[in-house]
Amino acid sequence: MGDTTEIRKGLAGVTVDHTAVSKVNVETNSLLYRGYPVQELAAMRSFEEVVYLLWHGDLPTPDQLKDFVRRERSRRALDPDLVRMLDALRDDAHPMDVVRTAVSVLGADDPDAWDSDPEAVREKALTLFAKLPAVVAHIQRHRRGLPSIEPRHDLGYAANFLWMTFGEVPSEVVRKAFDVSMTLYAEHSFNASTFTARVVTSTLSDYYSAVVAAIGALKGPLHGGANEAVMRTFDEIGSADKVVPWLEDALAHKRKVMGFGHRVYKRGDSRVPTMKAALDTLVAHFERPDLADLYTTLESEFVTRKGIYPNLDYPSGPAYHLIGFDTSVFTPVFVASRVAGWTAHIQEQLADNSLIRPLSAYNGKPERHIRGYVPDAAALEAMSRQEELAG
Ligand code: COA
Repeated sequence: MGDTTEIRKGLAGVTVDHTAVSKVNVETNSLLYRGYPVQELAAMRSFEEVVYLLWHGDLPTPDQLKDFVRRERSRRALDPDLVRMLDALRDDAHPMDVVRTAVSVLGADDPDAWDSDPEAVREKALTLFAKLPAVVAHIQRHRRGLPSIEPRHDLGYAANFLWMTFGEVPSEVVRKAFDVSMTLYAEHSFNASTFTARVVTSTLSDYYSAVVAAIGALKGPLHGGANEAVMRTFDEIGSADKVVPWLEDALAHKRKVMGFGHRVYKRGDSRVPTMKAALDTLVAHFERPDLADLYTTLESEFVTRKGIYPNLDYPSGPAYHLIGFDTSVFTPVFVASRVAGWTAHIQEQLADNSLIRPLSAYNGKPERHIRGYVPDAAALEAMSRQEELAG
């Protein structure tokens, strides 16, 4: 008799726990953060307010926001020792590896890294959240041979992030598009990196270890690395008139087209229309109709042929390109946003923890033995003691 255990590859369709952080509703094609539609949050609230909502369960009152923002702004600068360590890495190290290392160093440097009290976790998270723009901006500038820029405490999160990266206070169009992208990227239920963070947290490991592991998961091109892969695809194609031959070749070689498809959404990603609208504002601002043409042509040709729709990475990739980030810095920007969701899930996992440890069905060699092996007396005694204990 063969093994009849039902295997759900990639845990597809498996519900592993409850969550009150966000709800992905495939039927209505909607995404709620703590009950609020993400489109409404993106339009009406700043990214800082969204982060507060994810961590505390409700939007902040004006006083709560003032306090949250004040504490975030006061923690933005990086310790020069951390900067020296990052600069000692190879110049061609992938920015995701650098950002992962930065979080690891921050964790090793925190004497209270093990403190998993909810308030302590929120404090660590706030510090990390405040410093990630400085890390990403430093990586971007270092790659261009430029010195780092100190944070500005009079600017909001998105504006300061762009100030530190490019040395200019962004226009309102650019700031808003970037802020919207951060809100849309902040949280998405049990995606691979969030689930990774929850698995690590479930062992009662520390906050930083969970975030480092999540960054490792996010880096992959089937997950967060797709925004980078989308831009590489655009570069490879070049212009709208080359889409059809490029796509026919890609499909003939069974290549995946990055930025399309989703494990959960099968009729379009709920976040895409909002991000596409933000991309349109950037296209108009930077006068790049050629990029919009390439975007639309690839989208319609791919959807017509495959019936697979764009995901959030499809509009985000070109948006980050227009804002001015190098392609390999796109996924670190995603880290700075998704740390909000990871933190909310780490808190939720800790509040009602159970070690995450699934089963597997063995399909390897049948039992076999090492010739000449004879268990010694101590091993036999230990085995019989175990049987005795097991009753
Ligand atoms: N390009 C081409 N074909 C795709 C595709 C894409 N982007 N996404 C899915 N498919 C095809 C697969 O080749 C497969 O075809 P087959 O049944 O003929 O083998 C089928 O659709 C199912 O794909 P699969 O990868 O098994 O589905 P999944 O639910 O595991 O995949 C993703 C979800 C996200 C991993 C997948 O759509 C993908 O790899 N997309 C590109 C990467 C990306 O944009 N990731 C960001 C996600 S937010």
